[in-house]
Amino acid sequence: MNDPYGPVLPGSGKNDYETYMSTDQLLALQKGPDDWVSKDELLFQVTHQSTELWLKLAHSECEEALALMAQDDTNGASACLRRSTQCIRLIRYQLDILSELTPWDFLRLRPVLGNGSGFESPGWRSIRQVGAALSDQLDAYVRRRGIDMAQTYVSGQHGSEYRLFEDLIDWDESVSLWRARHYKLAERIIGQFTVGTKGTPVSALKDMPDTKFFLQLWRVRSELAAMSGTQQVDHA
Ligand code: HEM
Repeated sequence: MNDPYGPVLPGSGKNDYETYMSTDQLLALQKGPDDWVSKDELLFQVTHQSTELWLKLAHSECEEALALMAQDDTNGASACLRRSTQCIRLIRYQLDILSELTPWDFLRLRPVLGNGSGFESPGWRSIRQVGAALSDQLDAYVRRRGIDMAQTYVSGQHGSEYRLFEDLIDWDESVSLWRARHYKLAERIIGQFTVGTKGTPVSALKDMPDTKFFLQLWRVRSELAAMSGTQQVDHA
């Protein structure tokens, strides 16, 4: 009898889920037990590979936000940025599961990574590139619309421009929080003074959370504090 819920999509999957999601190919992308030096290789590959997928989406949403900002579609850009931020939050939470790796298990696994390092992550590379592009786009957006950023905050009106600025801050902060969590993870697993596969000591990761993409928006905080007469220390 003809099953009205049977597969309809063209492709090689046993059913439409497998076909559309390409699960056969996806689940073949991890080493199997016969090739493991440690069973934790599956944990390690799954967390890294899924991170790359979430960053692919995070990057794509930012590309869309860039295009929408250029068209002055402020609410549209905000929605894309919020989704991108959610992706980055998610990959921060999933670092927690890597802290289940014991230091010794990781050290046994490490040789199979070769000289591979997070510095080479295509997802993180694309986030660094799109973050810089968003900062340039923000400058162009503010210039074109004649916006005084500090005034947007002082006005107390939570309009769409204010929302966009705060969505950019959330995004920037989510990257910093990932980096802070990543540093604590690396410290816990291989120790402060151990050198990574690309020659960078773990201790050097400590300053990474201070890297900011939208300095212009962070400076507004200091500007507001100065305007209100709140004491400031000297800063560059
Ligand atoms: C056992 C867990 C991990 C350890 C011990 C670890 C360790 C390190 C170390 C030592 C570095 C310094 C660079 C080097 O010499 O290699 C580094 C950098 C980096 N790692 Fe990891 N890592 C871990 C998990 C991850 C995960 C899951 C990702 C996600 C893709 C990742 C992404 C990065 C990135 C992007 C950098 C460059 C620094 C930055 O942008 O903050 N790492 N990691």
